[in-house]
Amino acid sequence: MRRNDIQVAPSILAADFGHLADEARRIADAGADCIHVDIMDSHFVPNLTLGPKALGAINRATELFLDVHIMVYNPYNLVTQLVENGADRITFHFEATEDVEEVLGFIRKCGIQAGLAFRPETSVEFVLRFLGKCDLMLMMTVPPGFGGQKFHSEVLEKVRFLRDACDRLNLRAGGVEPKEGELLPPFSIQVDGGVDALTAPQCIEAGANVLVAGTYLFKEPDLAAGIQKLRDFGEK
Ligand code: DX5
Ligand code: ZN
Repeated sequence: MRRNDIQVAPSILAADFGHLADEARRIADAGADCIHVDIMDSHFVPNLTLGPKALGAINRATELFLDVHIMVYNPYNLVTQLVENGADRITFHFEATEDVEEVLGFIRKCGIQAGLAFRPETSVEFVLRFLGKCDLMLMMTVPPGFGGQKFHSEVLEKVRFLRDACDRLNLRAGGVEPKEGELLPPFSIQVDGGVDALTAPQCIEAGANVLVAGTYLFKEPDLAAGIQKLRDFGEK
């Protein structure tokens, strides 16, 4: 995998909630790399969305990798239920718990990938201490809580800092150094919020390789073409 191999994660938050299972199948049929599922608690962020039961319904509808982004306080308490309902990766917020390492370790112990998310205003210095301990870092490009917000371009500097740190430390997928002669994909740096045809190339240029997109993709007349368009920005 080259650095510019881009994964596209449509956010089901922008889909039709009246037909979640159909929408999950539509995302899979359109060739997405995973489905991004946003879970909120109305405390860490001022909104409520889906919960474990809805995640289970999405999981039964498709074989696709489920990328679960939880915007909740006490993330530890939700992990088991989300794993039981099909989560393949759980990404929680650095700002939501004092036990970041414990939660990352517990998620991995459950046999799935662990991701760590940062609000746009959180200092990028904090990423360094967790780099070797998670499978993905999510740099929020909007304040978490709602779809359809304006992209925060100042976050691009954080993405660049993180990619440079990965390169400097020679950390690849899973936050590990490759053994001699081993080819590992790049470390996963995800961006989420306001990602569209204009901002996606900027995110990729800065070093992001996993793009979450909700509003933009679900407004596209052809979901598959929209996904491919975002992915193709990695080729340029
Ligand atoms: C916002 C969520 C996002 C949201 C992105 O807190 O984490 O995943 O769905 O939506 P758009 O792409 O519309 O900004
Ligand atoms: Zn999200």
